[in-house]
Formats: sequence, C-alpha cells, structure tokens
Amino acid sequence: MVYSRLARRLRATGKQSFADYLDELENGSGEEWQDFINALTTNLTSFYREAHHFPVLADHLRKLRGQPRINIWCCAASTGEEPYSIAMTALEAAGGGNSPVRILATDIDTKVLDAARAASYPEESVSKLETDIVRKHFLRGNGANTGFVRVRPEVAGLVTFRPLNLLSPTWPLRAGFDVIFCRNVMIYFDKLTQLALLRRFAPLLNPGGLLFVGHSENFSQARDVFTLLGKTVYEVVPEAACKQGARPGNA
Ligand SMILES: C[S@@+](CC[C@H](N)C(=O)[O-])C[C@H]1O[C@@H](n2cnc3c(N)ncnc32)[C@H](O)[C@@H]1O
Repeated sequence: MVYSRLARRLRATGKQSFADYLDELENGSGEEWQDFINALTTNLTSFYREAHHFPVLADHLRKLRGQPRINIWCCAASTGEEPYSIAMTALEAAGGGNSPVRILATDIDTKVLDAARAASYPEESVSKLETDIVRKHFLRGNGANTGFVRVRPEVAGLVTFRPLNLLSPTWPLRAGFDVIFCRNVMIYFDKLTQLALLRRFAPLLNPGGLLFVGHSENFSQARDVFTLLGKTVYEVVPEAACKQGARPGNA
C-alpha cells in the first residue's frame, strides 16, 4: 500500500527512485511533506456512517437546548461527510429553527479538507439516505454539475474546516466542547498513543460532554477519563472535564 501510494508521488515529482524521493523530503524545500502525508492517509468515510450515533447525538443536543452555543469537534473529518452529517443532525434537532451548534472539523490531510470545503459529492453518496434528508439538506446539480449533489449552505455554514495533526504536541484549540467525534482514526495509533489522546480530549470537554468513537475502537483502558455510555459512545468523567464551562470561539 505504501509502495503504490508513494509511487504516485515519485511520478508527480519526477523522481527516479525512492531514495531520490526520500532525499527530496529530507533535504529539499520541505514543500513535499504535506503531499507525502496526503498520499499516505486513508480517507474512507460516508454520510451518516455508523448511523446509530446520530440519534444519540440528537438527544444530547436536545438536552443542551437553551445553551447559546454548542461546540462540536470532529477531529478526523476526511472529505466532510461526517461533519456535515453532524450539522444535518443539529438542524433536525433544532426543529427548523436556527441551530446553536458550531462544528470545528479538522484533519491532517489538506487535500481532503479542500474537498470537504467544496461540499460537492457524487449522487451515489446520498443514494442510501432517506429521501427527506436528501431533499432538505442537499441541492441537486444540473448542467456541468449533473450527477452531483451539494450540501446546502445552511448546513455547510455550521462547519469550519482546519488542518490539525492529532499527534502534534499542541493543538490550537480552546476547551469548551460539548461533543468530540473521533471515529476510525485511533485504530491507526498504538495503545499508548490512544490513551494519551483520550487524556488530552477529556479536559477539552464540558462536564457531561460526549466522545463518539469508531465501531472497532474500545477504550476501556481509560476509565479514569471516560465512562462507556453505550455502543462506542463515552461520557467524560466529571473530574476530568474542563472546569470553565462552554467557551465559544473554536469554530
Ligand atoms: C478512515 S478516515 C475516517 C473518517 C471519519 N472520521 C469517519 O469515521 O468516517 C480517517 C481520517 O483520519 C485522518 N487522519 C489520519 N491520521 C491523522 C492525524 N494524525 N491527525 C488528524 N487526522 C488524521 C485521515 O486523513 C483520514 O481522513
């Protein structure tokens, strides 16, 4: 997999061998690093993936009703289907009114973030969604955009995309999130790294804040910071949560 993905970068940069390519990475201008990262990431995602999470999210948002701002961090956002599904859930939970939800959607891969900002997807990507959801939250393309759907501006407007590496020693974020989505990315990290990330997530969450993880991710080793609420949904332990309460301004 690494071979075939980097072979594409060799062709794109005109390098004759992996040794030449690595030399460019290590001793060149530094510009190739982001393309190197982008080439290696796996970005599989879909709208309403792991659908059982979204009713849980909607219930949580209804419980927070009255809060002037609800902050959600989606930290491996890929091409945007996940944060836009969160935004659609927020609009549904708001029952047609304005939603106080703001979603910060981050990923290490700048190419997927560009695709996410464009908010345009092949029609097949919504073919399994309820027709009512598609009608309410997507615009069908015509002319040059035939065969594509675009996320409606009122959905896209709730989401801000920014690059962020979960493995960076510091994150440019303020505490005060009500929900963190971190799905299907921690599987790529070893147990110690996962544990370190969970300990960094906890103080970013408001008391009662939820962490949604992927279907094959189990974090029973972090009981001091997160309690399992249900299938792959965790609540931050009160003592581990942030003390200040919601502070707007991340997204
Ligand atoms: C398999 S996709 C999952 C997307 C989405 N969360 C979902 O469950 O549908 C994994 C995403 O994690 C991102 N990723 C991998 N390593 C990362 C890191 N160190 N920091 C931030 N994002 C990372 C990849 O670029 C990719 O878009």
